[in-house]
Amino acid sequence: MADRLNFAVIGCGRVAYKHFGALEALSDEARLVAVCDIDRQKAGAASKKYNVPWHADYRMMMAEHPEIDVVMVLIPTGYHAPVVIDLARFGKNIVVEKPMALRVSDCEAMVQACNNHGCGLYVIYQNRYNHPVQAARAAWDRGRFGKPVMSTVRVRWARYQNYYEQDNWHGTWALDGGVMSQQASHHLDLLQWFMGPVESVQCLSATRLLDIEVEDTGAALIKFESGAIGIYEATVATRPDNLEGSMSLLGEKGTAVVGGIAVNELLTWKFDQEEGEDELIRTNVSQVVPNVYGHGHTPNIADVITAVKTGIKPPSLVDGEEGLKNIRLLTALYESAARGGEKVCPGVEMKACRLGEIVN
Ligand SMILES: NC(=O)c1ccc[n+]([C@@H]2O[C@H](COP(=O)([O-])OP(=O)(O)OC[C@H]3O[C@@H](n4cnc5c(N)ncnc54)[C@H](O)[C@@H]3O)[C@@H](O)[C@H]2O)c1
Repeated sequence: MADRLNFAVIGCGRVAYKHFGALEALSDEARLVAVCDIDRQKAGAASKKYNVPWHADYRMMMAEHPEIDVVMVLIPTGYHAPVVIDLARFGKNIVVEKPMALRVSDCEAMVQACNNHGCGLYVIYQNRYNHPVQAARAAWDRGRFGKPVMSTVRVRWARYQNYYEQDNWHGTWALDGGVMSQQASHHLDLLQWFMGPVESVQCLSATRLLDIEVEDTGAALIKFESGAIGIYEATVATRPDNLEGSMSLLGEKGTAVVGGIAVNELLTWKFDQEEGEDELIRTNVSQVVPNVYGHGHTPNIADVITAVKTGIKPPSLVDGEEGLKNIRLLTALYESAARGGEKVCPGVEMKACRLGEIVN
């Protein structure tokens, strides 16, 4: 395999520019070779900025660029599954933005198609790479927290009506889902990454301030198989501004709280046994972020490069199977909310497989 991997991008919207930036930062190991968007102006703008050819049809792009090693799917969530399943036949590695898709069955079909064609499949969850989250994860893996007691994740962000009116997909059941599937996807991933398999969930959701068909607010209690408890709080109806994107980890031997607006500031780092590195962690790992996207795309894509080059998935990288776990849990939250907060077990095949709708 060449020293530099060739990347192509499908979908040149807002998040694409985080990916373009990451590829520039990783230019020793990666290069952008083509871009695609059904909106020709957006494809043309990216093409001009990065001096690469553009296409309006991803199938043509794949056919004309056999040199592509990795193709990034950065399009509205409801289109992830059909495009990824179709792309698999080209046999390339595929990166898809979070959330992986909106239905468990779609995610299963994506994994199956990629397995059938020998494609790597990776899902972007860049908050895992935030420095305080990485520090917490390393301490967690070394057993420093001891027996897990409770973890809380909170998303208290502000989105106004204009956010939902800027395109035709945000805030729709068909293509996006609400705050639980869109914004809080990251935080649900963090909760499950740290706390492990889930036994049951009880969730409530509401649409309080926005004129959208999906929820702008959700809250859940989660019981993990370990017996530990999770508390999940997600809203885009915080006013007037983004207030918090946080995670706290409480164990028998220590506590960590990572706050800020994007799980970027270490607020508490306390263990019954202080270790040499602790003071350095307290003073060094917080990150200043320009917006809620944070700085994680570059290390996330660096891990994709490692996985493609070595065939070994780095521990923080989310592959298709792990992305699917997130959608199983998300679906359980939606099913519980649709049933008025009833207890739902995500291991069991969902009756309500469509977000927010009981489909008995
Ligand atoms: N990791 C993060 O923090 C983060 C942040 C924002 C968005 N996202 C995710 O990224 C994805 C895209 O979000 P966005 O905010 O960039 O959306 P966007 O609407 O700004 O951009 C999506 C682009 O995809 C294009 N597109 C749609 N169908 C296409 C097709 N078949 N072929 C080629 N192009 C197509 C659209 O024309 C549009 O330009 C979503 O899944 C979203 O959840 C992740």
